[in-house]
Order: sequence, then C-alpha cells, then structure tokens
Amino acid sequence: MLWTPQVEALLSHKSVRSFLPEALPEGAIETMVAAAQSASNSSSLNQWSLVAVTDPALKQQIADRVARSVPVARIPWIEEAPALLLWVADLSRGAEITQGAGKEPVVLDYLDSFLMASIDAALAAQNAAVAAESLGLGIVYLGVMRNIAKELAEMVNLPQHSFITFGMAAGVPDPARSSSIRPRPAQPAVLHYNQYQQDPDRAWLSDYEAAYQTFRKRQNMSEKTWAGAVVESATSMDYLGGRKALRETVIQRGFSLK
Ligand SMILES: Cc1cc2nc3c(=O)[nH]c(=O)nc-3n(C[C@H](O)[C@H](O)[C@H](O)COP(=O)(O)O)c2cc1C
Repeated sequence: MLWTPQVEALLSHKSVRSFLPEALPEGAIETMVAAAQSASNSSSLNQWSLVAVTDPALKQQIADRVARSVPVARIPWIEEAPALLLWVADLSRGAEITQGAGKEPVVLDYLDSFLMASIDAALAAQNAAVAAESLGLGIVYLGVMRNIAKELAEMVNLPQHSFITFGMAAGVPDPARSSSIRPRPAQPAVLHYNQYQQDPDRAWLSDYEAAYQTFRKRQNMSEKTWAGAVVESATSMDYLGGRKALRETVIQRGFSLK
C-alpha cells in the first residue's frame, strides 16, 4: 500500500446507521454538493441532481412509506438522520434544453443515456460521501429507496426523464452506537491484471468468511456466511423488495431504454 491521508480516510469508511438527533452543520450539504460536482461526469453533461430532504415531516412520510416495502416496521436510520439525500439520474435538463432548441432528444431514449446518468449520480454521491466523512459526518446509502421509486418520484415532484437511483442518509454519527469497518475480500477476488482470470477455487474465500463471521459477531448480527448471503440475494425474490416492476417505472419516468 502507498499510504496517504486520503487513502487512509477511504479505507476507514463504514456505513453509519445510528445518528445523533442534531442537524447537519451549516454548509455541510453545500460542501458535499461541491465535492459531488467535482466528480468526473460523462461528457461534462452534468446529468445528475440531488434532492436533499431536510423537512422532517416529508422525511418521516418517506421513511414510513419505504418501511412498508420491507419486512421491518421501521428503518430507524432514515428517521434519525437529519438529511435524506436522494441522488437523481437526471436527463430532464438535457431533454428540456434540446426541446427548447427545437430538436428531438432521440439519444436520451437509449439505455446508454440512462446508464450514463446513473453512473454520474453514483460518482457524485460517492464524492459527497467522502466529503461528509472528512467532516466527521456519517452516511449510509439507501438502495431501498428504489422499492418505492414510483411514489417517491411523485412525493418530491421529480420531472420526466429523471429517476432516483438511490438515497443516502447523512448525519452526525452517534458514538455510543458506532459500528466497525466491514471486512472486504482479499484483492485476488477482485483484481485482475491484463486478462480476467476465472477463479473457481476462490482461495481468498475462507479468510474472508472468517473475517465476515468475526464482524457479524462483534456487531451482534445473526449468524450467516457471506456465500450464503450471496446465494440468498440471487435467489430470494424478497431481496428484490418492491423492485420487481422497476423496469416499467423507469420507462414510465421517460426513459425508453432502447
Ligand atoms: C448503492 C448502495 C445501496 C445500498 N443500500 C442500502 C440500504 O438500502 N440499506 C442499508 O442499510 N445499507 C445499504 N447500503 C450499504 C451497504 O450495505 C454497505 O455499504 C455494505 O454492507 C458495506 O459496508 P460499509 O459501507 O460499512 O463498508 C447500500 C450501499 C450501496 C453502495
């Protein structure tokens, strides 16, 4: 490893799911957005937006709605966090500007345009996450927001040609309920030089399972193996939550995915 303070900060990341009941420091959201806007973005088209939900009533309404989509009564970290950030893959500005110029935005009908905006939203969000962590704040990504993609878009008044790719709860971590850093598999699991090497033996797996078990035990989580979790995520329709009809929702939101 080549060690720098930035690398150290990246390797110290952990999702935060327990927040203190205090607001974000003034300027925190704007600082996160400045970092987000500094991320690379496809062709400099700036095809993402952020809806920062800070109104407690609206946030609670969203928390209640999303909790009804999963087999738990509440998702406390959405309720506790002072800000719920909704990261939007946003082709609406491009569509409007193009139509305003009297042209049809035909390229936006293709899958690649949707993918491009989604990639850019994710890169922006990750820069914002890193900035937040550097301020001593904590975040957790919320893919669960896609369970209610259709209703959520209406709740925050999203225009056509835009889609909430995921949410992010952000706040001041509660030090009394802090988690530890989650282990990752050893690099041979993910790193290939020059040619992808298929790896049926998975020599890295036993160490990773051991670290995974230690982590889960320390966090008082139920016993399960990582490989078991992988299989469950690939086979249980429950894992999909409300996202079975996501393709239709995305198309209804104005993406043709040709
Ligand atoms: C796109 C995305 C969506 C996620 N969605 C959720 C979610 O809905 N709920 C949740 O508790 N964690 C969610 N997470 C957090 C992951 O579970 C977490 O990043 C992973 O377990 C690794 O742990 P760490 O972030 O603490 O290192 C999501 C992460 C990503 C990148």
